[in-house]
Amino acid sequence: MDVTQATPAATFEVPSGLAPDMLRRTGVAVTFYGPDGQAAGEVAAQALETLNETLRQLVGEAFKTGEDQVVASAGWVRAAWPIRVRSRTVLVAAAEVPVSGEQGPDLGRRLLAAVAEAVRAHLCTTEARTECEAVSETLLQSFEEISLLHHLGEVLRVSRPVTELLKYACNELRETVDAEAAVAFLPEAEEGAPETVVAGQLPFPAADLPRIMMQLLEGASGEACIVIHNYCQQDPALAGLAPGMKRVALVPIELSEGRRGALAAINREAEEFGSPDAKLIRSTSNVTSIVIENRRLYRELQELMLDLVRSLVSSIDAKDPYTCGHSERVAITARRVAIQMRLPAEQVEQIYLAGLLHDIGKIGTPEQILRKEGKLEAEEWRIMKQHPTVGHRILAGIRKLESIRDVVLSHHERLDGKGYPAGLKGDEIPLLARIVGIADAFDAMTSNRPYRPMLPMEYVKKEIERCIGTQFDVRAAEALLSLDMTQLMKEFAERPTVGLGAG
Ligand SMILES: [Fe+2]
Repeated sequence: MDVTQATPAATFEVPSGLAPDMLRRTGVAVTFYGPDGQAAGEVAAQALETLNETLRQLVGEAFKTGEDQVVASAGWVRAAWPIRVRSRTVLVAAAEVPVSGEQGPDLGRRLLAAVAEAVRAHLCTTEARTECEAVSETLLQSFEEISLLHHLGEVLRVSRPVTELLKYACNELRETVDAEAAVAFLPEAEEGAPETVVAGQLPFPAADLPRIMMQLLEGASGEACIVIHNYCQQDPALAGLAPGMKRVALVPIELSEGRRGALAAINREAEEFGSPDAKLIRSTSNVTSIVIENRRLYRELQELMLDLVRSLVSSIDAKDPYTCGHSERVAITARRVAIQMRLPAEQVEQIYLAGLLHDIGKIGTPEQILRKEGKLEAEEWRIMKQHPTVGHRILAGIRKLESIRDVVLSHHERLDGKGYPAGLKGDEIPLLARIVGIADAFDAMTSNRPYRPMLPMEYVKKEIERCIGTQFDVRAAEALLSLDMTQLMKEFAERPTVGLGAG
């Protein structure tokens, strides 16, 4: 298995056509020699097949001193010119011309000097073009990386489920590296989340993905390591495990407690996977692992907050033994209704919290009113009806709970405007408050009260149907009625924290 961490150093190549071009333009056959003394690149037709002794010495001297060498003797002018790239002599060009007469050597020197200048000018242009192309390529890669990270940054929010984040990351990665598939493998990343996420078309059954990822991860040791395999079918182990997988580039994702996942690009027709692809995958992997870790911490904080809210709410429920567990039952019922109504995950989360806290204002209601078994007097009823407003006031200033304050305030409003505290009608009542309202009424009917035992389920259903459009929202009522309410009651009875009240 190839384990690649760096690109090989670039070597200098004589531009194609340079020697024949010089011969055509100047009539001089120029030959290029590498540091090993061997001819490099294309050799013009009239070039020397082997170096004569004089030229050999000139070439050696040019490499050694880095300076032009010219010698005129016995009817020849011979020259060797070092070719420098970034302060380093990478080649020596050599040529000789026959001369005669008194002016011959001088003309020969001038001719070779002109040829040297032409060769250097050509190489300089070529080098500039190559550098320009390299810079363009680097810029393009940087642009792709920045663009990928920018897109990821826009959607990677800790409040989003891990699976959604990974799907987006895989899609972006697949498009950027032009792979047939991009996959994320995250063993036990989050409770209930799938182990693998795939964008594109896998060349093998999806069920095999975890085993293949585990096998590839074995080749990626150390945090900085990546795996690039461009000839998978030549590896007997991989060929057996993943028929159809031709190329793969994989980067580990470091998770908490030493666990490792992986992000990989699979198959690409156009070209082999290389370092630029690995860099893009690594950037995505780094961002993804940070978000996953933040998401884990976020969930822990969220759990802590919910535990605190539950314990606060249970102390309020405890003021009235007949409503013990009421708030959590309302929260659970409201959440089920919201899920049934296909509300967004964020609202489902909000409604659970709103259900828990809907009666928080009862903290200010005297116990003798809450516990009173008979009918409330007018003054007592006036005080009791203040609890939504008190709750709304208690939650003021808590940023995390700002979105549910109006739900707490309006959970006793009715569609026909006969509710309290504001007498809002229809759509004036926030949707989540309408849902908590019906969950509240459902729990009141299905709990034991001081003045009556819990009502039969058939009666409860009829009562909900009867009150649709007056007390209850149509959609919320239909969603509640479509739930298995008997099963819900059974679940409540089995949970010690939400037991069905005294009675
Ligand atoms: Fe209430």
